[in-house]
Amino acid sequence: RTLAGRTLDALAEYIKSGKAKKVVVMTGAGISTSAGIPDFRSPDTGLYANLARLNLPYAEAVFDISYFRKNPEPFYTLAHELYPGKYRPTITHSFIRLLHDKGMLLKHFTQNIDCLDREAGVPGDKIVEAHGSFARQSCIECSMPYPEDEIKKHIEAKSIPRCESCKGLVKPEIVFFGEQLPADFFKHRMLPAEADLVIVLGTSLTVQPFASLPSMIREHTPRLLINKERVGGIGSGSDDVLLIGDCDAGVRQLAEACGWLDELESLWAQ
Ligand code: OAD
Repeated sequence: RTLAGRTLDALAEYIKSGKAKKVVVMTGAGISTSAGIPDFRSPDTGLYANLARLNLPYAEAVFDISYFRKNPEPFYTLAHELYPGKYRPTITHSFIRLLHDKGMLLKHFTQNIDCLDREAGVPGDKIVEAHGSFARQSCIECSMPYPEDEIKKHIEAKSIPRCESCKGLVKPEIVFFGEQLPADFFKHRMLPAEADLVIVLGTSLTVQPFASLPSMIREHTPRLLINKERVGGIGSGSDDVLLIGDCDAGVRQLAEACGWLDELESLWAQ
């Protein structure tokens, strides 16, 4: 085994002794819930449990490309609520930034489209936005880029933007069910094999191919799961550490064990 035990203190020892130089972080919607953005699958509070008002045939249809072609309205109703700019990064986002500042962050793989990691100061080249983001938008027919100020107006007004060239539907470049993930994901998907520590936070790890990233991790690479529930089989390995509960509380615990808590709190307060 790599760690002296499957405890937070053993992991903190490993980190403090300088052995974690290439940390891969994998995240999902759970790291942004404390910012006020719902996750997808939590019972009661998750987005998919609260979409009745959109009259969808099934919840995931709101992010399904064939459904969007027929009926883009539900997505644009939701986009109004999810559009970045209204939310502040959480202390978990600042923790990822802190790993970068310490020269330890190899890559942050995220399924989130809220850009809160960038806002917390994680540089773009350290982030793989596996499900895209609201940073760009284009026509789903001819791929022509669509201006950002125009889509902002539409999202604000909950109206549907159309391509200025072919009148096709315009969609933010977030990945819908039925669409390919960005090339950046496939370019970097083997990186977890190089990691000397992997931290998984706030994801149910249910959506492929993102959910297969942990299978790239080498045996005896320490894996830390900070999540409200156990996912992805993490916890069964001899070098797995589990912090089951809130991720903001979990990163504070880890920071405390590493002697970084004050630094983390002031980074977040900036
Ligand atoms: P999910 O909603 O599936 O999972 C969120 C996970 O975070 C669950 O395991 C929760 O228990 C946990 N969680 C929620 N709040 C938390 C908190 N404060 N602290 C710790 N854990 C917390 O969200 P994702 O895994 O991100 O894709 O979902 C994956 C993909 O499914 C999304 O990117 C989206 C969705 O459909 C597309 O739309 C293509």
